[in-house]
Amino acid sequence: MKRAWFDELAPRWDTLPGQPETAARVSTFVRKAIGHGCPSVVDAGAGTGVLVPALLGLPQPPALIVELDFAFAMLAENRRKHAGAPCVRWVCGDLSAPPLREGRFDAVLCFSALPHVEEKRAALARLFALLRPGGRLAVGHLMSSTALNAMHAAIGGAVASDELPPAPELAALCESLGARPVVVEECESEYTVVVEKLD
Ligand SMILES: C[S@@+](CC[C@H](N)C(=O)[O-])C[C@H]1O[C@@H](n2cnc3c(N)ncnc32)[C@H](O)[C@@H]1O
Repeated sequence: MKRAWFDELAPRWDTLPGQPETAARVSTFVRKAIGHGCPSVVDAGAGTGVLVPALLGLPQPPALIVELDFAFAMLAENRRKHAGAPCVRWVCGDLSAPPLREGRFDAVLCFSALPHVEEKRAALARLFALLRPGGRLAVGHLMSSTALNAMHAAIGGAVASDELPPAPELAALCESLGARPVVVEECESEYTVVVEKLD
């Protein structure tokens, strides 16, 4: 049901009213997550690929960017927009059970997607498994968890009860899965949790 909801939205996703200065703020998130860059990145819940220009614009752009999403229509839009980027791959799959090689990636970015996953602990464990030791998992939003949860409740339908925990709570959950918090920030206009997988 949720997948169908996003599939239906896909052709309009990039024209929906967004946050002011979205591109610049997305770049800030990406730099907080991976600094100047890293060789391989999974964009989990990639949608139409809002992170791709920011990743390609890094001083050291990744050699591999995997755009992972379970909504085929979102990925189709993503591919149409970024087909010219040779380092980008598109994978249709559930981020709770990613069909990707474990221990292979330097970073997993989950931007505006985690609230839509019901079993967050299990999903995060699977995302951590994709990382090599020292790799980074970053969760980002352009608003606070309180504002986001209220927005989902107001939208209703398939996302009505999709929730994001407060940033310190998410960081604690990641710590319990064997990660070290690097950035834990939340205010009205931003939510960023970056953690590093321990050896
Ligand atoms: C709110 S959109 C955000 C898309 C993109 N990251 C952005 O910021 O524009 C959430 C995306 O996550 C995807 N998604 C939700 N649950 C997912 C899951 N369990 N596995 C893979 N993708 C998922 C949806 O299909 C959708 O494309």
